[in-house]
Amino acid sequence: MPITKIAEHLRVARHVVVFTGAGASAESGIPTFRDTLTGLWENFDTSKLATAEAFRADPSLCWGWYEWRRRKVIQAQPNGVHNAIALLASHVPKLTIITQNVDDLHERAGSPVVTHLHGSLHSPRCIDCGSAHEAPLPSEPLPEAGIRIEPPRCTSCNGYVRPGVVWFGEMLPDEAWTDALAAAKDCDLFLSIGTSGIVYPAAELPFAALANGATVVHINSLRFAISSQEFFIQGTATSSMKSLVEEAFL
Ligand code: APR
Repeated sequence: MPITKIAEHLRVARHVVVFTGAGASAESGIPTFRDTLTGLWENFDTSKLATAEAFRADPSLCWGWYEWRRRKVIQAQPNGVHNAIALLASHVPKLTIITQNVDDLHERAGSPVVTHLHGSLHSPRCIDCGSAHEAPLPSEPLPEAGIRIEPPRCTSCNGYVRPGVVWFGEMLPDEAWTDALAAAKDCDLFLSIGTSGIVYPAAELPFAALANGATVVHINSLRFAISSQEFFIQGTATSSMKSLVEEAFL
């Protein structure tokens, strides 16, 4: 479906859900997970980094890797996707932003309410008692991934502080998932931007929207198979979202 047709849907939509993945932050310089050669999982072993077992086995390796990613996020700037989505909020009656990303680029682009399904790099907590830990915002970047850093200790129980992200094998935050599923079932336009759509339960959301009669549009630089009822805009997230919002409202 051409952007002009999708822009028509956007103009009359009652409730728009924007569902973002790593491809939405890619043009801010944040590595995605599964892009060939550049994706994080192409270059690092999830089982040694992105599970609670990995952290307990080698806290410094795990914490160092997430701290490298956190510093990248601190250095990054929101890109045209985040800005277009923030602009969208002033043109549609209701907008819900659901992200799988653990950065804060939506918030820094001016979107005050963002549902984080996979947590945030900015909300570390004690792995034992769960107490929140205030992470400083250092300016200097870290050398490319692989530096070992001893995790901070919890001020309440002296347990290790862990990254505030959802690891493989862990449940999504209850409230975030409940809110996301409700929004997907209520919306009439669902924009899935820059996600490979293979990690569940997050990947259920476009199907939930479709089952409830919403128009579902995938925006991705790489074409992938979709059902005959869904739509696809192939292109970078920044250029596609810019064109879509301009066509619809500017
Ligand atoms: N514009 C649009 N799409 C892009 C761009 C871009 N500039 N760059 C990459 N993409 C697309 C890729 O083609 C791919 O389909 O973004 C998608 C990124 O997919 P993944 O790397 O798998 O990231 P994501 O879908 O967010 O992963 C979901 O997996 O590892 C877990 O918890 C992690 O939240 C993450 C989840």
